Amino acid sequence: MHLPKRVTIFEMGARDGLQNEAAHVPTDVKVAFIDRLSATGLRWIEATSFVSPKAIPQLADASEVFARIRKAPGVRYPVLVPNLKGYARARAAGADAIAVFTAASETFTQRNINMSIAQSLDVFREVVAQAKADGVWVRGYVSTAFGSPFGDVVTAQSVVDVSVALMAMGCDALSIGDTIGVGVPSQVAELVPQLAAQIPLERIAMHFHDTRGTALANVYAALQCGIAAFDASAGGLGGCPYAPGATGNVGTEDVLYLLHGMGIETGVDLAAVRAASRFIAGALDHALTSKAFAALEAADARATAAS
Ligand code: HMG
Ligand code: MG
Repeated sequence: MHLPKRVTIFEMGARDGLQNEAAHVPTDVKVAFIDRLSATGLRWIEATSFVSPKAIPQLADASEVFARIRKAPGVRYPVLVPNLKGYARARAAGADAIAVFTAASETFTQRNINMSIAQSLDVFREVVAQAKADGVWVRGYVSTAFGSPFGDVVTAQSVVDVSVALMAMGCDALSIGDTIGVGVPSQVAELVPQLAAQIPLERIAMHFHDTRGTALANVYAALQCGIAAFDASAGGLGGCPYAPGATGNVGTEDVLYLLHGMGIETGVDLAAVRAASRFIAGALDHALTSKAFAALEAADARATAAS
């Protein structure tokens, strides 16, 4: 079996995670959370979203969060941008890496960003052209790659078509999202080679939500297909308010535990990620869902009690 020797983690906790929280998380806490994540060895930390504050009130403080986080050397902090207005706000705050986001499902795209897929590609073509002119790194998200929350059929071909369109407009990399956590490994094994036929594998990350407990299995399936970049969220935070039923991303701790256990390097310190998760958990109204986080915390508590 030829698995990648090294994997890059894109940390989602501050963006995908905090966009879906009912509790009000103060700006200071978001900044402190991201600063803790910056001390873990993570090289990519999605920081926030410059979307409409009416659409995602949880991240209405994007400008302040972005301006205040300590930018660690060697760490990139991409931000979500839905249109030129969001791009201008992101740039004014100092962002040099952005993510545009569309989907393979028409209904989801409409509900999420009030555009058809074709309209979104037109909007993002302008955003990406501007970004490239400014030397800004761009990621393109393709959501609902394994199924739509609204029942419309998503085919592997539609995922490939949107992915190719995003790359053609100048995106540097893609993230292929199982937004509602419905995918299974056989779907991953079917989709990834179709993408790889058109797009270099090293430009593709997979973004699995763990709604039905298949995310880690899907990570493993993707590794077997040669994928070496994964999105994950500290503590397993996350979800999209416009995808009914969507729960958190696969936990960063779970992915790190799996990868490190298999001898795959990430450069990320699992204990330091746990510390960041422990910190943000204190600001939330629910327990974290990452199993590795919970198990390692419990093991530490037992060891402390025994000493
Ligand atoms: P719209 O209502 O069609 O936009 O929303 P509009 O252009 O008509 O503007 C309406 C109002 O919003 C106006 O203000 C604009 O100025 C303002 P008003 O005149 O009413 O006072 N506005 C903005 N304000 C600040 N920043 C902006 C911005 N744009 C417009 N950038 C829009 C369209 C795309 C803006 C909206 O639907 C939106 O912001 N959607 C974002 C939804 C979202 O963030 N979803 C979650 C992220 S996607 C996700 O989680 C999936 C992912 O994790 C991958 C996966 O899991 O698959 C990435
Ligand atoms: Mg997501």
